[in-house]
Amino acid sequence: MPRKAQPEWTNPLRDPHDRRLPRIAGPSALVIFGVTGDLARRKLMPAVYDLANRGLLPPSFALVGFARRDWAHEDFAQVVREAVEANCRTGFRTEVWDRLSEGIRFVSGTFEDDEAFEQLQSTLADLDRDRGTDGNHAYYLSIPPNAFPVVLSQLRRTGMADESGDSWRRVVIEKPFGHDQESAIELNELVNSVFAEESVFRIDHYLGKETVQNILALRFANQLFDPLWSSHYIDHVQITMAEDIGLGGRAGYYDGIGAARDVIQNHLLQLLALVAMEEPVSFSPRHLQTEKIKVLQSTRNILPIDLNSARGQYAAGWQGSEPVVGLKDEEGFAADSTTETFAAMALEVDTRRWAGVPFYLRSGKRLGRRVTEIALVFKRAPHLPFDDTMTAELGQNALVIRVQPDEGVTLRFGSKVPGSSMEVRDVNMDFSYGGAFTVSSPEAYERLLLDVLLGEPSLFPVNEEVELSWQILDPVLAEWAASGTPDEYESGTWGPQSADTMMSRTGRAWRRP
Ligand SMILES: NC(=O)c1ccc[n+]([C@@H]2O[C@H](COP(=O)([O-])OP(=O)(O)OC[C@H]3O[C@@H](n4cnc5c(N)ncnc54)[C@H](OP(=O)(O)O)[C@@H]3O)[C@@H](O)[C@H]2O)c1
Repeated sequence: MPRKAQPEWTNPLRDPHDRRLPRIAGPSALVIFGVTGDLARRKLMPAVYDLANRGLLPPSFALVGFARRDWAHEDFAQVVREAVEANCRTGFRTEVWDRLSEGIRFVSGTFEDDEAFEQLQSTLADLDRDRGTDGNHAYYLSIPPNAFPVVLSQLRRTGMADESGDSWRRVVIEKPFGHDQESAIELNELVNSVFAEESVFRIDHYLGKETVQNILALRFANQLFDPLWSSHYIDHVQITMAEDIGLGGRAGYYDGIGAARDVIQNHLLQLLALVAMEEPVSFSPRHLQTEKIKVLQSTRNILPIDLNSARGQYAAGWQGSEPVVGLKDEEGFAADSTTETFAAMALEVDTRRWAGVPFYLRSGKRLGRRVTEIALVFKRAPHLPFDDTMTAELGQNALVIRVQPDEGVTLRFGSKVPGSSMEVRDVNMDFSYGGAFTVSSPEAYERLLLDVLLGEPSLFPVNEEVELSWQILDPVLAEWAASGTPDEYESGTWGPQSADTMMSRTGRAWRRP
């Protein structure tokens, strides 16, 4: 499709020069495909309601569900209500719900059913006319990735992707976006043959998190950190996304995908890009993307890959105080499944700023704790004018960006232990979101859904970022595919021995968050 110019700001309720005013979406309909799924119930429907409750959706907003249940509009509205009551963030208010539910519609059918798509088209036309959604339609594909092609073809066939006049049509795509670089390129070509790239919103919900956006504030609004932000002072960077839960009930999605494809290709490489990028010319989407793309283009695997990566699969062990089974005893996983539930790899960013600084990425299920953090670990002081015994307990300074669950920033440095002798030990200086701000952070999906309706693409990776991320990951996946099965690790620990060895070989160690 021909590329259009980046859309200008179109929301008449907002003065584009005053960024403090709330950003309210314009008239629009959000169509969710796969509305009976887990994501729609837990995240999407509650996020729509929370936006309405915060006054960020206009009266002329509509929510359309598409699924193969035989539901009337009212049945679907009841399903939405239950999902909202169970999972909304801002508290259920009947008056908000009553207004929102007037715009809820349901279309029943499978993705292969032409008639159902024609029914969807006429439902949207009715909403445009009766509710004033003005031909502005966002299609959220909350569906299995193998269904992307059929739904995209239906949208093309019916003309539902075509914009006319001032109206817009957008598509929202969930991960996984391909399973390697080749399939990501194919999928991008397919999506871009139906929707122009600026109308494609690829969800990486990590980018919707306040703590992730705070990386830009921390780096570019302060003078304090910038002089330290390079190989002159930083020894290495560790980016960790650890979960304590296992995969009970999620075999269908996870088996054959694994931790590297599920999390490192998207969330962790996006975090790496935000940490490593240069200052953007502005915070416009294009300037942000330019800087992130430069980082991804410069990112390489540290060789040899077999010694600089690790993968594992959880065995039986503990989750908190509960005994739990290993992956191969989880329902839906075969006894010979080679899907990794832990992945770690060492990368380098081949630029003047980062030369010689390894970036260690790791993610896993059934680890010791649920935590996501980015730790910049500093070099040791070049000279310590103390006896060795005085600094025996002094580690390396670290700046830790706590992404979740205890959102904030920690600075770790050495301090004198009170007493008559000089003894230096590590202490933490903490900033916590909960303590510093009275407002609670919106859910990532609230922010991202609103941005879709506003046409603000800053927090959505573009096709080039996705393809470059796969280019970084593909050699690691190929190495693993050629080298037998993942190592096992006991549930409740911090991954396989090989992950520790990968670090200790360079005289470093993983943090135990
Ligand atoms: N769940 C999460 O936390 C999560 C997180 C990140 C990304 N994602 C991604 O989000 C997407 C949705 O995930 P999910 O967990 O919600 O999946 P899910 O629970 O498996 O739901 C899939 C949905 O697609 C529908 N569907 C499948 N084939 C269909 C067909 N031929 N015709 C009509 N409907 C069909 C299902 O309808 P039926 O109910 O009729 O089967 C269901 O509503 C996936 O791409 C996933 O990778 C999910």
